[in-house]
Amino acid sequence: MKAVIINFKAYGEGSGERALALAKAVKEISEKVDFYMAIAPNFLDIPEIVKSVDIDVFAQHADAVSYGSHTGRITPEMLKEKGVKGSLINHSERRLRLADIDYLVSKFKELGLTSVVCTNNVSTTRAAAALSPDYVAIEPPELIGSGIPVSKAEPEVVENSVKAAKGINPEVKVLCGAGIATYEDVVAAIDLGADGVLLASGVVKASDQKRALEELVGLR
Ligand code: G3P
Repeated sequence: MKAVIINFKAYGEGSGERALALAKAVKEISEKVDFYMAIAPNFLDIPEIVKSVDIDVFAQHADAVSYGSHTGRITPEMLKEKGVKGSLINHSERRLRLADIDYLVSKFKELGLTSVVCTNNVSTTRAAAALSPDYVAIEPPELIGSGIPVSKAEPEVVENSVKAAKGINPEVKVLCGAGIATYEDVVAAIDLGADGVLLASGVVKASDQKRALEELVGLR
């Protein structure tokens, strides 16, 4: 099943009560479509959403440390305890070192969490795939939040990322993201070989989030 993961980022429109409402809307819509739909709200909203909405919840980041004297860190174990499904790792807005990405992918496997390693171009996608995460998500940074869909503006990046990742490890699923806001963009991504999309502003910043979501998954 193709995946649609919605990153709420630190947007006010996707925080607190609004995060909960949006999570419920995603859940409702997910029941009407053939997509695997999941969300990545901010850390503080995770427990409430996990408790009240039956949808897979991802974190937006995890730190490459275990329990211990690490002030201000969020460990993979903590995420697991809160009932999250997995996490984005190395998002363009929260870059990590290669060794940290490697640590997190391995630790996630051990804990049964799903890893989504974000990348910015074909070479980093190839490198990320070599670590054997569950997903790599290619997002050219310059298109993030631009409203210009990567699947249309840089189709070759998506296509070549899929080839590069599957060439290294055919098991790794490839998402693409940046500027994805319409069903047409989603279909274009899938036609390029992607296993789904990772998106944010097209839904979270939309004046009518539910309507935007319905449009995005082809219900309108
Ligand atoms: O994590 C998804 C994100 O970076 C894409 O953002 O706003 O271009 O859909 P956006």
